[in-house]
Amino acid sequence: MSIVLGLDVGTSGTKAIAVDASGKVVASALVEYPLHSPKPNWAEQDPADWKRAAIEALSRLAHAPGIKVSDIKGLGLTGQMHGSVFLDANGRVLRNAILWCDQRTAKQCDDITSKVGARKLIEMVCNPALTGFTAPKILWLRENEPEVYAKVRKVLLPKDYIRFELTSEFGTDVADASGTLLFDVKKRTWHKELMSLLDIPAEFMPRAYEGPEVTGHLSADAAAATGLPKGIPVIAGGGDQAAGGVGCGIVRTGVISSTVGTSGVVFAFSDSVTLDPEGRVHTFCHSVPGKWHVMGVVLSAGGSLRWFRDALCQPEKAVAADTGRDPYEYITAAAESVPPGAEGLVFLPYLTGERTPHKDPYAKGAFIGLSLRHTRAHMARAVLEGVAYAMRDSLDIMRGMGVPITQARASGGGAKSAFWRQMQADVNQAPLVTINVDEGPAYGAALLATVATGMHKSVEEACDATIRVVDTCAPDAARSAAYNPWFAEYQAAYHALAPGFARAAKLI
Ligand code: XUL
Repeated sequence: MSIVLGLDVGTSGTKAIAVDASGKVVASALVEYPLHSPKPNWAEQDPADWKRAAIEALSRLAHAPGIKVSDIKGLGLTGQMHGSVFLDANGRVLRNAILWCDQRTAKQCDDITSKVGARKLIEMVCNPALTGFTAPKILWLRENEPEVYAKVRKVLLPKDYIRFELTSEFGTDVADASGTLLFDVKKRTWHKELMSLLDIPAEFMPRAYEGPEVTGHLSADAAAATGLPKGIPVIAGGGDQAAGGVGCGIVRTGVISSTVGTSGVVFAFSDSVTLDPEGRVHTFCHSVPGKWHVMGVVLSAGGSLRWFRDALCQPEKAVAADTGRDPYEYITAAAESVPPGAEGLVFLPYLTGERTPHKDPYAKGAFIGLSLRHTRAHMARAVLEGVAYAMRDSLDIMRGMGVPITQARASGGGAKSAFWRQMQADVNQAPLVTINVDEGPAYGAALLATVATGMHKSVEEACDATIRVVDTCAPDAARSAAYNPWFAEYQAAYHALAPGFARAAKLI
């Protein structure tokens, strides 16, 4: 039976899955690596770690029991978006990659915005200059490490660096390219005029393909290193959000996803280019050819809960270690013992600044309203609620833009907790459904490979054949009403604290 592979170059690790023609995941492998933060607000990774992890994960699939290597027909790529890998003329990596959650480029974003004009920029590339995006990172490198910049010949996104290592070809996909701020999202091609305005050579960027197109073939070296068949097609794939959208079946108007991983993303399909004139949500090309998507990004969603677990939940971690269970089970159980609104405790999840809706690299996390009555259980509930409120901010912007929303699908690690899913349904005042697959972007990349290899005729057909709804969480009217005033407090708290965040950033 034919098999395709999906490879996701993520932030905490690289995941590879093998999917058969029926859509069943027949093998998977995850290889983790560190994230480096050499200065406050900086986030970097070594592309050599991604390469090692990709080779290891793919070779585990090639050697997985029950997999016949000759059945493997293609490989789809996906990965964390916006990261910048700088290569020299010999294809060598010049410095660590600067990641999507890195906040060092506030000055370059301001420079781009004042040079181009805020409205004009959104007209040109559909999005405002945000610190995580690629273009301001290129300008940062030019200003701060001119000797490195002088050697740059190519700038690749994380999964496209792996593509280069696997196929020796330079290429990207239109969805990932949309997050560089150098891409004409409307015309689905590089924005040469903007690149020349910013004095960024057009040759820096690789050719951009639609999601299910073939960009090259597995090289003899990569085949030898992984055990996969030489020459299998490597498919463009998509940035992790667009590929994740495909992996959840977000391929038609009205269906959106709500994904809580490290970041939190509300992702809506769009038949045409739909813009927020304020640029609070992103408008990017989708991995479905000729389609787009709109998304709101919360930078620390699951990341906030992980921070809370590691910083404050040693007792839960100890019990979990004793019982062999997951510390998050104890944390969410504690949260469940507290009423909606956490008895007046509000958490802002802006631990790494925030994109949607604030576009504020200086925003910080906060617990507001602490009193003697509050326990760690209240704090747990406040963290879960704060993330749910942050996701609702994105949803409300989309509602305001007139994006049709008939069904929301939960995915990511945050979808595992029934309690958190119910909370999101209540906070959003909208049903949240779960689907039969939870492999995220890697699954979407594999589905794109089924289209490229002729196993399905279209991305829509691939999704229809493999993805179905298995459960629905309906909102509870009483709890929705209880959350409403606290959502308003949550929104007001950011606006009250924002000037202090900006002042404190200068002091730090
Ligand atoms: C999307 C974004 C993140 C990364 C990390 O715009 O920045 O979701 O792709 O996964």
